[in-house]
Amino acid sequence: MKVAVLGYGVVGVGVYEMLKKAEGLEPGPVLVRPGKADAPFKVTSIEQIVSDPTVGAVAEVMGGVSPAFEYAAAALKAGKHFVTSNKALVAAKGIELKALAEESGAAFLFSAACGGGVPFLHNLSIARKSDEIRSLGGILNGTTNYMLDAMQRLDMDYGQALADAQRLGYAEADPTADVSGLDALRKIMLACAVAYDVLPTEGLLNEGIENMTAADAAHMKSRGYTCRLLAQGGRNPDGSVYAFVEPVLFRAGAPECSVLENYNMAKYEGACAGSIVLMGQGAGRWPTASAVLRDLSCVLQGDRAMLQPGCKAGAADNSALSRLYYVRLPEAFAARLPSESCEAEDGLARLVTKPLSPAAMHAAAKEIRAAGGELFFAAIGG
Ligand code: HSE
Repeated sequence: MKVAVLGYGVVGVGVYEMLKKAEGLEPGPVLVRPGKADAPFKVTSIEQIVSDPTVGAVAEVMGGVSPAFEYAAAALKAGKHFVTSNKALVAAKGIELKALAEESGAAFLFSAACGGGVPFLHNLSIARKSDEIRSLGGILNGTTNYMLDAMQRLDMDYGQALADAQRLGYAEADPTADVSGLDALRKIMLACAVAYDVLPTEGLLNEGIENMTAADAAHMKSRGYTCRLLAQGGRNPDGSVYAFVEPVLFRAGAPECSVLENYNMAKYEGACAGSIVLMGQGAGRWPTASAVLRDLSCVLQGDRAMLQPGCKAGAADNSALSRLYYVRLPEAFAARLPSESCEAEDGLARLVTKPLSPAAMHAAAKEIRAAGGELFFAAIGG
């Protein structure tokens, strides 16, 4: 099967090179936006691809919602199988693309959009058919994991850690999506869509690592905690879905502490299977390209869909869970949170809250920030 590649950046080059050697696959034209890098078999319009009868599939690795969506729609309408690593695209337009794929009978697979090389969505899409998926998520952003690891283990400062993650090809074109938790949030949205037939688009919460200082990193380390950015999703007792992203503190010895550099740790809890953990590189050229190629091989084997026909957009409810939070904030704002314990020094308070839902903690943080209080918070995990 000849595969057209949309985008020839960090991941596009990897996909193109892997296609040369993959069983049953070969590289086709490469769509490069005007003014962008040169590429082999370069074309500059999607029409040249969708009208080419020798192209069987399109692999999109350009990122962003537009024009990726228009290109994806054109490819699917023309009956070309479509695989993508683009989580922003699937989070925003997944339901529409699923409908187009169903109409034309073409495949729509996106396991490369979550977890880089880790076959998380692929396994989830199989497991959900026979087991009840109770919860899912984990460390799903390579950039922030690289940064947190560098800041806590190597005492690197935030700016240097981010610059390194960008240089190594882990970060998004605009790394705000990584450090704000939005990239991980999009990934948990996709995982919920695959496992629960609900693509949550409302009620979502994401707290990233932008507010973590070197002093926070040093303080957490001195108390024996390691911070990781976790994306969490699952079913509430009433059947609704929760989906949110926030920093979580782990005690030494917790498996999350051993996830270093750009690695991801994706998990799901099956009612029968129990806890399944998948680990591997979550970002970068070759890991992500390998996931695109894996999807293309699945297309060759007859796989057509990761989203079931009944999958719909819906709302997340993050008010039913409860956990303790560590919060660093100006002492003057400390009374706004119910606390178990609180230490104050030089105008700064570091407190542990009473049990709060993610919805309550994120709402309180928003209010405190709106009133001028800078804060960092992290859930206290295992
Ligand atoms: N920027 C993303 C990350 C790329 O760091 O995880 C892989 O999705």
